[in-house]
Amino acid sequence: MNFQAPTSKLFFQPWYDIDLPQRVADVPALLNRFEKRLLYYVAKERYLGKGAIVDAGCFAGGSTVSLAVGLADNERKIDKAQKIVTYDRFVLDDSMRRSERINKELRGATTDDEFYGQFRHNTAGLEHLFRLEKGDLLDKRWDGEPVEILFLDIAKNWDLMRWSMEHHFSALYPGAILIHQDFADSGHYWLPFVMAYLRDYFDVVEYMEPCTVIYICRAAIPNDVIQVDLLKTLSLAEALALHNSLKPNLSALRQAMLDIQACYLCRWYGDNEMALTLLREAKARYAGLPRFVGDIKAAERSFGLVEAV
Ligand SMILES: C[S@@+](CC[C@H](N)C(=O)[O-])C[C@H]1O[C@@H](n2cnc3c(N)ncnc32)[C@H](O)[C@@H]1O
Repeated sequence: MNFQAPTSKLFFQPWYDIDLPQRVADVPALLNRFEKRLLYYVAKERYLGKGAIVDAGCFAGGSTVSLAVGLADNERKIDKAQKIVTYDRFVLDDSMRRSERINKELRGATTDDEFYGQFRHNTAGLEHLFRLEKGDLLDKRWDGEPVEILFLDIAKNWDLMRWSMEHHFSALYPGAILIHQDFADSGHYWLPFVMAYLRDYFDVVEYMEPCTVIYICRAAIPNDVIQVDLLKTLSLAEALALHNSLKPNLSALRQAMLDIQACYLCRWYGDNEMALTLLREAKARYAGLPRFVGDIKAAERSFGLVEAV
C-alpha cells in the first residue's frame, strides 16, 4: 500500500462523518447514509477528471444524486459535463415488487414508467452532470474511455458481472476507485470469487457495513485476464481455494458470509453434494446467530431443502 498515492487518504475513511447536502441526505436510495457520504465524498474530493464516473445501476437516482452533487461541489477546474454515466433498465421485476424497502423508496411508483418518472424527479436539475444509459445493461457497449470511479451496484447475476468486467473493469487504471456493492450478500457469491481472482489488480481500502467493499486499482487488468471463462478454467477445488483466500484478515462475520457463499459456489459448479455438506457445516457453526438466520434459510430454500416462501 502506497500512502503517498493521491488516493491514499481514502484509507482513513475521510467520508465517515461529513455533513451531506440536504438533497443527498433526502434522496430516496437503496443506500445507507455512510454509502451516500462515500459517493458524495469521492466525487467531490477524489475525482480528478481523468476519466468517467460510472453509476451502475441507479434505481430511483440515490447514487446518481450523491455522485452528481459531489461532482458539482468538486472545486477542481475540470470538465464536468455529463462525466457520470448512469445505468438502469427501470423495470420493476417480481423480486423488486416483493421488496418492502424498494416499494418504500419508490414513493408509490408501481409501473415501470412511474419508476423511471421517480428517477427523473429525483435527479431533476442535475442532468448536465450525468448521461443516462437507459435499458438492459447487456445491450450496451462501453466506448473504452478510462473509468476513474466505478460504482458497481448492478452485478446482480453472472452475465451482468461478466459484462461489467469486460466493459468497465477493463477501463480502470492504477489509482481508479472501485466501490463494490452486494459483496457480503450471500446470494451474490460470484462477487468475492471474481475479486479473489483479480487480487493482483486491486488493493482493498475498506469493508463497509453492510455489503460494500472499496478498492483502489493497483494495475490495469490485461485483456486475457478479463476474458478468462472462470467456470471452465478453474476446477471447483481451485475456485474454493481462491474464494477462501479472501479469509485471512477478515472479521469473523465476513468469513462466515464467505462460508455461506461457498455453498452456492459448489452448486454453481454442479456439485450439489458438496454444496449441501458445506451448508450443513455452516448451519451448525452459525446456528442462532441473528445475522445469518436469513442467509442460511435463503440458501436452504434455494437448494430446495425447505419449501420456498
Ligand atoms: C440495488 S439497485 C441500485 C440502487 C441504487 N444505486 C441506489 O442508489 O439506490 C440495482 C439496480 O440495478 C438495475 N438493474 C438490474 N438488472 C439490470 C439490467 N440487466 N440492466 C440494467 N439495469 C439493471 C435495477 O433496475 C435496480 O434499479
